Amino acid sequence: MCGIVGYIGPQDATPIILNGLKRLEYRGYDSAGLAVLNGDRIEIRRDAGKLSRLAELVNGSPISGSPGIGHTRWATHGAPSARNAHPHLGASGRVVVVHNGIVENFLELKDELTAEGTQFNSDTDTETIVHLVEHHQAAGLDLTEAARRTFNQILGAHGIVLLSADEPDKIVCARIGNAGGVVIGLGENENFIASDIPAILEHTRKVIFLESRQMAVITKEAVRIETLEGLPVQPEVHTIAWDAVSAEKGEYRHFMQKEIHEQVRALTDTLAGRVDFNDGRIRLPELNLTPELAKRIRRIYITACGTAAYAGMVGKTLIEKIARVPVEVVIGSEFRYSDPIIDEDTVVLAISQSGETADTLAAMEEGRKKGAVLWSIVNAIGSQAMRMADGYISMQTGPEIGVASTKAFTAPLVDQYMLAILLADLRGTIDDATRRALVADLRLVPDLVSRTLNSEPEIERVALKLKDIHSCLYLGRGINMPIAYEGALKLKEISYIHAEGYPAGEMKHGPIALIDEDMPVLCLTPKDPWHEKMISQIQQAKARGGVVIAVATEGDELVEGLADHILWVPETPWMLSPVVTVIPLQILAYHIAAIRGLDVDQPRNLAKSVTVE
Ligand code: G6P
Repeated sequence: MCGIVGYIGPQDATPIILNGLKRLEYRGYDSAGLAVLNGDRIEIRRDAGKLSRLAELVNGSPISGSPGIGHTRWATHGAPSARNAHPHLGASGRVVVVHNGIVENFLELKDELTAEGTQFNSDTDTETIVHLVEHHQAAGLDLTEAARRTFNQILGAHGIVLLSADEPDKIVCARIGNAGGVVIGLGENENFIASDIPAILEHTRKVIFLESRQMAVITKEAVRIETLEGLPVQPEVHTIAWDAVSAEKGEYRHFMQKEIHEQVRALTDTLAGRVDFNDGRIRLPELNLTPELAKRIRRIYITACGTAAYAGMVGKTLIEKIARVPVEVVIGSEFRYSDPIIDEDTVVLAISQSGETADTLAAMEEGRKKGAVLWSIVNAIGSQAMRMADGYISMQTGPEIGVASTKAFTAPLVDQYMLAILLADLRGTIDDATRRALVADLRLVPDLVSRTLNSEPEIERVALKLKDIHSCLYLGRGINMPIAYEGALKLKEISYIHAEGYPAGEMKHGPIALIDEDMPVLCLTPKDPWHEKMISQIQQAKARGGVVIAVATEGDELVEGLADHILWVPETPWMLSPVVTVIPLQILAYHIAAIRGLDVDQPRNLAKSVTVE
């Protein structure tokens, strides 16, 4: 998982790949490698460690030729090591792959391939892709058709690039879902491929973005795009302005929209290096959580501001449910005035995108003063909240530019889920089967988010209907209650429409008086343990003439029969459901604000990072 660069043309691929990967270094990685067609042979250099290590390998044993593909990896299946680094060769040594994403059905595919006698040379899920391609080639298919068949067999969200020594004139690539983009850069008698524009911007400004479930066959003269079903696609060629900002915005109108879509990739990166799907365990080395510390923790205070505080509220449910440690959430600006009960067995966990929010830092200082163990979940590397903490989890989302936080909301949800499992494991409060099941559910996350993002056109249509509302009530219960708060915050921040998040059970104690045809009610009604309660909430709102917008699980006919507008989400294990249910609310707020012509990325009066009390 992480960065991909490919090249086909008359130049040597190696320096182009190394330079391109260098430009993606900011995304983080633990290994790097490249494969180049040198005459009739595919040659590979790869190792754990930084790009400087790969450059050393290439200097020590140069390879020239084209086409070539390269990759920076962040481990998900198997430790960072030379054998697990991409590219991965097939058994014949004639086909090679690099890949971003998680092959969800990798264990089943690996079992099938192993039963046929295929030998695996790494612990990665990626290796199944190249073996499947070879399997189809052995049945007589060419690279393109063998790749197509393989792309249709693997589950999950992916960016994949393949080349074969038997068809040296082409590179085949695909994007499935939103596990990071696949960008094709168009040159004169040469073409480029990358996971992100900065990797190829020095060579060309003309790019094509592959859409989900599209594949491309790229030669030096031409790019042919088709759906995975084989229908031809007429691609749109975008010209990227030279300035870094428009390059970063890519195919999107606003950074917020881009960042909403980046969540699949951010969440894949969040899992990378932390989850081992082979042994069903979580590793969070920077948290410095020893078994001794895990056992003595008696209470956790989560402290944060704004969106991050709502992420903390979801975390409370997760940590209490999975690790059975009492958790209190106190917003940053109140913490130091609330005389919190703290001793050395108390953890203060701060959540912050910027790591510089004054109130959150003051809460951490209060914790430090009273002798608490300080943890943080932070996006900005090297920020104060990261430096102050005894242990931290770094959000792997990349920079977030839009003031309204999106990807820095979903990442800490998954971080806290992982933290809860690790804590439970070290405290011995979870059995092996439960731990394995909870960890296995994590691999579904990127694809579930990707599928939710596919509903953007329908959500945009709902946004058009709601664009002139003056107020909106958001209701949720249980683990999705904080999502009601977060959804309402998104709407008010960027569209300037009054919105209120409320625990659904409290509606009857006040807000119900507000409900009429001018006060829409948005109900979070996924299939979670609170589903039935939410149904009765919808019925109560309808009985008062309210217009109901529901976030509901695909196929839920009960909600379909009741609500006026539905934002569908795929079925998700309930403890992970907030990661999915928040997505339509982000998209809805985004489109309402965009339709109203507002400055989505920099809403009035708001700052990305609030460094004053
Ligand atoms: C500001 C931003 C919010 C953010 C909050 C906390 O209010 O506008 O989007 O949630 O600060 O920021 P932090 O960087 O600590 O997550």
